[in-house]
Parts: sequence; C-alpha cells; structure tokens
Amino acid sequence: MKTKIKKLLKKRKAILLAHNYQPAEIQDIADLCGDSLELSIKAAATDASTIVFCGVHFMAETASILSPEKTVLLPNLDAGCPMADMVTAKTLKSKIESLPPMPVVTYVNSPAEVKALSTACCTSANVVKVVNSFTEKEILMVPDKNLAQYAATKTDKKLHLWEGYCPIHNNLSIEDIKSAKKKHPDALFMAHPECSPEILEIADVIVSTSGMIRHAGQSKSKSFIIGTENGLIYPLKKANPDKIFYSASETMECADMKKISIDDVFNCLENMDCEVKVPEDIRINAVKAVKRMLDFTK
Ligand code: 13P
Ligand code: SF4
Repeated sequence: MKTKIKKLLKKRKAILLAHNYQPAEIQDIADLCGDSLELSIKAAATDASTIVFCGVHFMAETASILSPEKTVLLPNLDAGCPMADMVTAKTLKSKIESLPPMPVVTYVNSPAEVKALSTACCTSANVVKVVNSFTEKEILMVPDKNLAQYAATKTDKKLHLWEGYCPIHNNLSIEDIKSAKKKHPDALFMAHPECSPEILEIADVIVSTSGMIRHAGQSKSKSFIIGTENGLIYPLKKANPDKIFYSASETMECADMKKISIDDVFNCLENMDCEVKVPEDIRINAVKAVKRMLDFTK
C-alpha cells in the first residue's frame, strides 16, 4: 500500500502533510510531519498541485485558505475538531458586538468562517508572539480559554476569553500528573498549552507538539512525561531513540486524529475526492488573518 500511495502521489503531483498526532503508518509515508504552524507554512510554500492533509478539517481548510489554486484533500471528511466546533461566525459576531472594538486573535483550531471575522490567527507555537505584536491593550481570544489563559501569563494585555477548550487536553487532571510523577520521579513534565492553567502551573516546559520533539532532543533529561495527545509519543521516540517517554494519561486520545486510515489516503488519491474547499467570499477575509500570523512568525 505504501508503494502504491507513493506512486499515486507522484502521478497527482501531490504532497502528503501529516500532523504529529496521526497514526504511525501515516506519519511514515508523509512528506512532512509537524505541528499546526509548520504544516501551514508548508501548505503555503509547496509547489505541489494537490495537498493531501492527514489531520483534521480545520487544518485542510487552512491549507485551502492559503493555496486556493491547489486541490486540498482530507482523506476522511469526518475528521473534525470538537474545540473548533465551539465557535461559529454567528456566536463570534454577537461577542464582538458586545465588546468595545479590539483585535480578535483566533486559534487555527477554528472554522474558516470564524477566521474570516478575525484580525489574526495563532497556533500554540506562536500565540505569545502574535498577542504581543498588537499595540492595543485588550484582545479577544477564541476559541481556546486555556491557550488564552496561558498567553495571559506572558503579556500585560487584557485578554477576553472564549469558553472553548480541547476535551482531550482539558481533561488531564492534577491526579494524573501526581501519579505519573510518583512512578517516574526523574522525568521532565512537558505540557501543551491547551491543558488547563492548574496543569500548566506544574509543567516544566509548555510548548507545541513540535516544540516537545525539539525540547526532548536538546534537554539533558533522559525521560519525559508527555501532557498532550498520545499520538505524539511515536514521533518523540523516532526523533529521540535514546530517551524514554511516558504518557501523562492513557485517556489523552483524540478520536478525530485517528480517523484517517492508510486505505483512505489511497482512495482519495485514486479518486481525487474528499476535497476541502473554502468558498472564495470567506477565504478572502480569512486569508488576511492567517497571513498576518505567518508574517508575525517570520
Ligand atoms: P500543535 O501541533 O500546533 O501544537 O496543535 C495541537 C493540536 O491540538 C492540533 O489539533
Ligand atoms: Fe481538536 Fe483537541 Fe483533537 Fe487537537 S487534540 S484536533 S484540539 S480535539
């Protein structure tokens, strides 16, 4: 199957991008694995005519926003993100109307129509940089309240929160970490900024998924407790074969990130279906917010 997919990728002039949480067999055939920011940068820069996005719906939408001339395929269209579903254009519009004018910084884990109403997007890798790039003193942040509360510890701006969250990261409890630390007292605890403020307070390192892979490589520590979706353990081990990684909780599994199978990848390339295309009237506004994020990140 891997050989067949590689052949089809060539035939379709396609590139395969995979998020760090994807199943191992998908990561193994990807042209690039990465966090949301790295994948957006690649989606904007590639000269391939088709992008096969192995991740969730908002990621394929971001690729379509950045590269409208390309065909973007999401091999299983059911792969969504519960946090992205916690904000809509309608609910965001009424929130904006209830507040004085201020920039809206939107996590990429959001629908395209929400990005179209936003001033700038951000990812977990650049949220602090994006927030601090504004001269305004108040900012509305959507949809992740945990990411916003994390950013609030790194800025003197007043951040207005949205009541959204990632169920997988938000469920990680202090008890989970206490028991992991008891079992592995020498391990460094790395947490994703989508975790709750109580968890981030006891974390040794707070970074994006690719940030964890890099940090594990640079750190003197030999073992790590990983406070993010368990799919990350695979690329962590691959990049750092001499180090040990423990999951902070066995329950940190995102079902949506596991929906794409290797057969789905083959089928979508064979049939050129499962396309994600953001309508042009939404895209022309959304692209400003996404590009602003990419410019801040340079
Ligand atoms: P990053 O890989 O950008 O840290 O994102 C985590 C995530 O939850 C993506 O859905
Ligand atoms: Fe969404 Fe959380 Fe799954 Fe990421 S891990 S796709 S934020 S539900």
